Amino acid sequence: MLGSRVRTHRVRGRGGLTAMTAVALGGALVLAGCGGGGGDKKSSDKSKVEVFSWWTGPGEADGLAAMKADFEKNNPGTTFENAAIAGGSGTQAKAVLASRLQNRKPPDSFQGHAGAELLDYIKAGQIEPLNSFYDDNGMTKVYPKQLLDQISYQGKIYSVPVNIHRSNMLWYSPAVLKAAGIAGPPKTVAEFVADLKQVQAKTKKVPLSLGAQWTADHLLESVLLGDLGADGYNALWKPGADWSGPQVTKALGDFAEIMKYTSVEAASTDWQGASKAVVDGKAAFNIMGDWAYGYFIGSAPNGLGKKLGTDFNYAASPGTDGTYLWLSDSFTLPKGAPHRAGALAWLKEAGSKQGQDLFNPKKGSIPARTDADKSLYTGYLSYALQQWTNPSTKLAGSMWHGVVANNKWHTDIDTAVGLFLQSKDAAKLQKALADAAKNDAQ
Ligand code: GAL
Repeated sequence: MLGSRVRTHRVRGRGGLTAMTAVALGGALVLAGCGGGGGDKKSSDKSKVEVFSWWTGPGEADGLAAMKADFEKNNPGTTFENAAIAGGSGTQAKAVLASRLQNRKPPDSFQGHAGAELLDYIKAGQIEPLNSFYDDNGMTKVYPKQLLDQISYQGKIYSVPVNIHRSNMLWYSPAVLKAAGIAGPPKTVAEFVADLKQVQAKTKKVPLSLGAQWTADHLLESVLLGDLGADGYNALWKPGADWSGPQVTKALGDFAEIMKYTSVEAASTDWQGASKAVVDGKAAFNIMGDWAYGYFIGSAPNGLGKKLGTDFNYAASPGTDGTYLWLSDSFTLPKGAPHRAGALAWLKEAGSKQGQDLFNPKKGSIPARTDADKSLYTGYLSYALQQWTNPSTKLAGSMWHGVVANNKWHTDIDTAVGLFLQSKDAAKLQKALADAAKNDAQ
């Protein structure tokens, strides 16, 4: 099913062939110790596994807890140490991880996004290839080929994907839209701007809720996709891409306009605060990945216990219907993992059908494996599965969540957006983004 899209996927992500070919042709890169641990001692300690992620908050922690419980049942002699560090999209966790890896104090397994982000760890020689693990567990055939491309380098597979998330989702409050006299969710960026204006004019609600700075980065990728379309967006991440043209000018102008309707008060809250404002009827719209769905429908104390169709509804973010702006959480085997055998047991859990079917319905994502039990994915998630597996759906890789931009590019975009939040100057933003593309594309 998904395999049918392999042909077209290669230009759409970053960690796959495009980036790899560029590196191979450049010939400048010597990969230290990429052959499977090099001289590192390989621990056979299975007494424990320290699993590093950023899933601490309401919503995402529940999926992890479900998989952890199954892991403990399957591995009674192994203590699961949850080393999650708070901060949506890994804003804090990634910095801590970088310093642990630098100091050769890796956790036993850490969360990394498929694509360019993972490629950074691979190129730095920080993680082990997992080909024999895949062979031993019969896993190569249960993942879509184009996803394996995004976690592979020079023929070796480097992580275990647990899910597929969709970044370009618009969550909205039916009640607030009604109060504003808006019939349904906006289909284009232009309609979106008009609706935001209308919410502001007709209600006292927040038109578009936003949280910490990274949620503006997240919004930016959806606006770029909405204005440029999948092909135009995908082209931005290729080496030599020009960010200084009129289409990007238009998209950044729209981004600047949309930002006028966001709530300044919410800037100190993370994504949960911003998404919650919609289901509480305090804001009309929020653009957030589908982890918001897990949070909305999850039961208390972490989840909000809200009802799809009544308390909230969803649509693809304006102008992006038919394109899956995707990302995938995967787990790795760091070189020098102190409890390597424990880590392999964890990777087995994360790669299993059972583990993924326990994790994803709570997390608000669909399984990375192709053989999941479809009946478990209801409401929004049945739509997500249908979209992901529909051969006519276009794919685009998330910038903010690691698919198309490496860690340095990601940081430079964040810096540009941070400056824009102060200056509100879209021309300066474009110049900074064009410079980042020139400096960071590989
Ligand atoms: C993404 C991650 C998701 C979710 C989200 C918000 O980067 O892939 O699983 O955790 O951040 O924290």
